[in-house]
Parts: sequence; C-alpha cells; structure tokens
Amino acid sequence: MKVNLEGKRALVTGAAQGIGKAIADTLAANGARVAYTDVNGDQVKQTASNVEGAIAVTLDITKPDRVREGVNEVVKQLGGIDILVNNAGVNTAKHRVNIDEFPLEEWQRIVDVDLTGTYLMTQAVAKVMIPQGGGRIVNIASSLGIVPVRLQCAFIAAKGGLVHWTKGTALELAPHNILVNCVAPGSTLTEGTKGLFYGEGASERDRAQRLLSHVPLNRPGTCEEMAHAVLFFVAPESGYITGQILSVDGGWTAGGFFRDF
Ligand SMILES: NC(=O)c1ccc[n+]([C@@H]2O[C@H](COP(=O)([O-])OP(=O)(O)OC[C@H]3O[C@@H](n4cnc5c(N)ncnc54)[C@H](O)[C@@H]3O)[C@@H](O)[C@H]2O)c1
Repeated sequence: MKVNLEGKRALVTGAAQGIGKAIADTLAANGARVAYTDVNGDQVKQTASNVEGAIAVTLDITKPDRVREGVNEVVKQLGGIDILVNNAGVNTAKHRVNIDEFPLEEWQRIVDVDLTGTYLMTQAVAKVMIPQGGGRIVNIASSLGIVPVRLQCAFIAAKGGLVHWTKGTALELAPHNILVNCVAPGSTLTEGTKGLFYGEGASERDRAQRLLSHVPLNRPGTCEEMAHAVLFFVAPESGYITGQILSVDGGWTAGGFFRDF
C-alpha cells in the first residue's frame, strides 16, 4: 500500500524492534518524518540510524517526566507531531499462571506499560495536536484485548482497556479533529515470537502449532501486515474513521474455528 505522508511528523513508541520498528519504517517509507522512540536508547538509535530524516529519542512511556521531555524533544526537532502510534507493550512469558497466583508486581509492570503508558503519551501529544488543529493517533492493542484467554490476566485487562480507551478518547478528541483508532494484532512473527514459538528450535513450538490450528489463515501475521493497517488509519483518505478497532489476526476473532469439526 502507498500513502502520501509528505510533510507529516510521526512519533512511534517501542520503535527499536518488532512491530514498532515496522510501523516506523513504513511511515518513513511513505514520506513522514519519524521519531523512533523506545526505552532502549542504544537500540532505537541504531534502528533509526538507517532511516533518512528519522530521529531517535530515548523515552520510557511509564515515566511522566520523561514522557513530557521526550515529546518536547520531538516537537523541537520535527516542529510538531501529526501522528502518534502507541505501540510499546509488554507481556509475561514467565508468569503464565492462574489469577490466584499472578504476582502483583507483574500485574503492575504490564498495566503500567500497556495502559498507563498510552494514557501518558496520549495526554502529552494531545496537548501538541490540539493547538495544531488535528492529528491521528493509533493504539496497538491485541486480539486478546477483544477475546480474552486464560493465564494472562494483566495483559488481557490492559489490552481490553486499550480497546475501550480508543473509543472513549476518539469521542473526546473528535471536536479537535484528532482521530483515534486501534489495530489489534493477532500472533505476529517477531524476533521474540520466533524464539518462543515459530523459529527453528523455538522453546514452545508445539504450543504454537496448537495455537495456529485455531487461526483460520493458519499462520502468524507479519510485522509489515500490522504496519500497513496503521498506515491505512493515518492515510489522508481515512479522514472519516475514528474510534474503530481493526483486527489483523488471520480471522482468529471472527469466531470459533474448529479445524477438525
Ligand atoms: N508480537 C505479537 O505476537 C503481538 C501480538 C499482539 C499484540 N502485540 C502488541 O504489539 C506491540 C509490539 O509488540 P512486539 O511483539 O513488537 O514487541 P517487542 O517486545 O518486540 O517490542 C516492544 C518494544 O517496546 C519497547 N518498550 C517496552 N517497554 C517500554 C517502555 N516502558 N517505554 C518505551 N518502550 C518500551 C521495548 O524496548 C521494545 O523495543 C505491543 O504493544 C504488543 O503487545 C504483539
């Protein structure tokens, strides 16, 4: 897909790797000037260094002061922000346990990044977009924010919250010409999921095959497929869409897919 983002300035969180990197690369490839931001400063500098016109900013989205400073830094360097992609997120691989055993610290760590971080970033960037007269915000939730699964109580709560938050902020920000939408990825091929699920010698390869048997398209998504859904939402042509959730999940949330039934 090709979109004209010439003159647009974008900020992507969690852009050092994975889906965030693909989103930032895709926005840049379509003409935007992109601020690659991430808590991992060294890696995000390295990632952005390959992209013409891009800047890198170290930014932990859970730290209110750092969010304010980071957003100011982006505005100073790019002259404003037209597009915000709230992509940074974490889950737990270690604590796949029932709610009665799920540790509070792990709950707080996940909710802090996946939900509170989005609130902090949206608040800081809305203060830039409102006087500018508009903008686009895309939140990256998860198919698990639409259909919950067992043993990931913090992640499903945070991502479910993000889905509802998208609709609520879209209502609040519409009078300011700020459109807020959400992409809900299904299981996606990244370095992380290759190591855990999909790569040669992955530690949970069998589990991944069982998971994919419930995905109608029978494969994980790619980072580029997630990035193009974001590109659709930020395209100038998508100016009448706000408060919407786009599932990019191979059909997993469309309904129960019983391969052998
Ligand atoms: N990979 C999947 O299968 C999948 C599926 C559904 C949803 N998602 C969502 O997509 C988004 C990206 O996932 P991914 O697989 O590319 O993840 P990833 O772990 O590969 O990358 C996440 C990036 O976010 C950064 N980050 C973590 N905490 C941060 C913080 N406090 N402040 C700023 N940056 C921070 C990390 O340093 C990393 O660069 C996440 O929101 C995730 O929940 C991923």
